[in-house]
Amino acid sequence: MSTVSSYALVIYGASGDLTSRKLLPALFNLDCVGKLPRAFRIIGLARSPMDTKAWRQHAAEAIATLGDQAQRATFCERLEYMTIDYGSTADCNRLYDLLYNCDDCFASQGKVLFHLAVPAAVSETIVRALGKSRFAPEGRMIGNHAIMVEKPFGTDLDSAVAMRKLLLDTFEEEEIYRIDHYLAKDTVRNLVVFRFSNAMFEPLWNRNYIENVQITVHEKLGVEERGNYYDQSGVVRDMIQNHVMQILALIAMEPPIAADAESIRDKKNEVFRSLRPLLPGDWVLGQYNGYRQAKGVSPDSTTPTYAALRVYVDNWRWFGVPFYLRSGKALAEKVTEVVIVFRSIPLCVLEDPASCASVQRNVLRLRLQPQEGIHLSFNVQKPGIADEGIDTTQLHFNYADVGPITQESYTRVILDAMLDKPGLFWRSDSIETAWEFVAPILADEKNAPPEGYPNYQPGSLGPESAAKLLQQADHNWYS
Ligand code: BG6
Repeated sequence: MSTVSSYALVIYGASGDLTSRKLLPALFNLDCVGKLPRAFRIIGLARSPMDTKAWRQHAAEAIATLGDQAQRATFCERLEYMTIDYGSTADCNRLYDLLYNCDDCFASQGKVLFHLAVPAAVSETIVRALGKSRFAPEGRMIGNHAIMVEKPFGTDLDSAVAMRKLLLDTFEEEEIYRIDHYLAKDTVRNLVVFRFSNAMFEPLWNRNYIENVQITVHEKLGVEERGNYYDQSGVVRDMIQNHVMQILALIAMEPPIAADAESIRDKKNEVFRSLRPLLPGDWVLGQYNGYRQAKGVSPDSTTPTYAALRVYVDNWRWFGVPFYLRSGKALAEKVTEVVIVFRSIPLCVLEDPASCASVQRNVLRLRLQPQEGIHLSFNVQKPGIADEGIDTTQLHFNYADVGPITQESYTRVILDAMLDKPGLFWRSDSIETAWEFVAPILADEKNAPPEGYPNYQPGSLGPESAAKLLQQADHNWYS
């Protein structure tokens, strides 16, 4: 339950895809489990001319497969719609009146949470308009307000700094929630629990025992209908700078001194600050065959749809251990996982040289999605009276055995923002360090690789050069 008894969630971009696919189902789920305060209004804003009745109908369709008829009807009663020109101060003032100057004005004692489910450029327009409106009589918000912003947080370091300044002109840092829905996935939240509530892994979690770390975020789908956005963005801005970097930070960070959000964010930020600057040769870019024909994509686009990186975290724990990161679209299967490859044993003392040759490195595989689970490989004696040699086998944990995985991470994103819990959101210093880190790749993006684009087939594991990135150190991707 929220800490305030009355609440208004204001969704900018209410007629958009994100609202119907993610936000409305997530809010409905929260309603069904009693997590929304009784006095909870959801105010949808968009440019499309529509009235509340039409938006409720639209919402009913978005949640048609969830809950029962009575629950859906009760939920839709919470919804109100207002057509708005995003840059208009007058329209912001109309919103203000809707919230505060009404007969049953619960919000005067409650909290207002703005959710910007709109492209980054539109977010800027909205924040400027809010800053000039009655919500912010002297340019700064008064009362109990917060704002949720969708990624991308800028498109590079300069624009991220400008966005931070713009937000801070009107809101306090504690009132800004920069969303990364990966952080709200159960299995990603588990990374901290797995590392810091089990005594047996942490002593091995360093350069003495770990040879390399591999983070894979592969998608099976191509850009589909999002070519317009994606062609301006590419895999580095869309996935690497945010989701992949957050997973890296959770794997590499030092133990936090406490469980509060800032302690954990501090440790993650130390990882970003420890990253060795990238040099040419540390990354490989790819574009799948057929990308240039997708709707909204330029026919001679050099936007990468795949990237693989070799990254070093230059601190005492990790010095010299390569972290291999890869992400891309139109690949063989959807899989997000972290593979920890342990060092070889120092010396084989088995009698049979053939057995020694078949000893494999221990591998810990944290499968984040789908088929969520944790798998550990190790070597065992094959049974029998002859010298059968050794085998490499696995210990398996399937996450579903401890309970169903939350499929919709926006449920937790919205709940945490309502509860004033910032731990699952980006802090601006880390965003900027992450942009600075990927800048050399962004500068290289306009150059297709020597073999030219396209350089991988849909349904494959990406460009061949991604394997070569590891082979230089005699490593291989674990697929
Ligand atoms: C989004 C990206 O942030 O994450 C998309 O913009 C990507 O391009 C999506 O498809 C992947 O999220 P998930 O939760 O399906 O792995």
